[in-house]
Amino acid sequence: MSTKMTRRTFLKAAGTLTAAAALPVGMVEVTRAQKTGDKFTFAYISDAHITQIEGASFVRNFDNGLKKAVLEVNFMDPQPDFVVFGGDLAQLGKREEFEHGLEMMKDLTVPVKWVIGEHDYYLDLGKYWQEKMGPLYYSFDHKGVHFVVLASILTDDEWTHKRWPTPEERMLQMARLDNPNGSPFMVKEEERDWLKKDLEKVGNETPLIVLSHSPLYKIFKPWNFWTDDAEEVQAILKPFKNVTVLHGHVHQVLYNQIGGISFQAFMATAWPWPYPVTYSQLPNMMPVMTVPMNRADPFKERDGTGWGHIQYNGGLVYHYELWENSPRVVRQDSKMKHPEDAEYQDPAIRTPPQLHY
Ligand SMILES: [Fe+2]
Ligand SMILES: [Fe+2]
Repeated sequence: MSTKMTRRTFLKAAGTLTAAAALPVGMVEVTRAQKTGDKFTFAYISDAHITQIEGASFVRNFDNGLKKAVLEVNFMDPQPDFVVFGGDLAQLGKREEFEHGLEMMKDLTVPVKWVIGEHDYYLDLGKYWQEKMGPLYYSFDHKGVHFVVLASILTDDEWTHKRWPTPEERMLQMARLDNPNGSPFMVKEEERDWLKKDLEKVGNETPLIVLSHSPLYKIFKPWNFWTDDAEEVQAILKPFKNVTVLHGHVHQVLYNQIGGISFQAFMATAWPWPYPVTYSQLPNMMPVMTVPMNRADPFKERDGTGWGHIQYNGGLVYHYELWENSPRVVRQDSKMKHPEDAEYQDPAIRTPPQLHY
């Protein structure tokens, strides 16, 4: 299938494909922006949660989410420079789930930068991941931006190595959302030391984009929307003038600003989570600046899921391709120095969240 179709050709083709919705609106804008200067775009796909039922049978809805994201990225014209996969490719870290997920990901026509999620890690502690996707943490430079990929889903040694009778049991415990037997995510000292070293060679004027799976701040501990040593990581990033953290894991549109660091989360291709604030009466740190995505309609199979693409043009523009829901654009506001969804600022035009108490 050609990846250089026009919007008109795409829409014609899409009419024959039930999996493909209309070309996400943001792509047209990206095309225009990319014609000038040293700008670039990359796509973000996350939380596919490929789930084996048994043998060659997998949960079809999750397969379809990942396939749809891959298809739509392939139709971006011009193509993004690369795709970030934000973690949780597998549901229970099984080889079969990785192989099935990789089979779908290999249809992408641009390189993939892999970020590991907890569902990918806690069965074999990253063994398969390192064989196939590469190191758990690394950095690279792209068109004047320094990218750092972190494994933010580690936890303490006792929980990891001594608590559980089998790797399968450990994986199941970490895979549950609201589990008092879980353990908070951490980057941990060894990796923080690596990060400090890696950044020694980077000037503090260089834009920095950090890719992690969990948010590198603290939202809601009972669901592990949380990184326990977030403050230590933020302190390492603090000297840099232009820092953005992009993450998955929360399966929702979410953004925040802490000091000079902007944080931006993307949806899953598998399923949406509700916002913890709508679900729990416990204190949480839902960022006040986030305009929440509309509550997903459970009767629409794909509502609340999707993918994103990020336009770098000195500042950053985030395009959220929310399937069966309103697409969102969040811009880094250069005057206010934080991300903002200008279109949905007025609460009157938002869909109010449903409370689940
Ligand atoms: Fe996930
Ligand atoms: Fe996750």
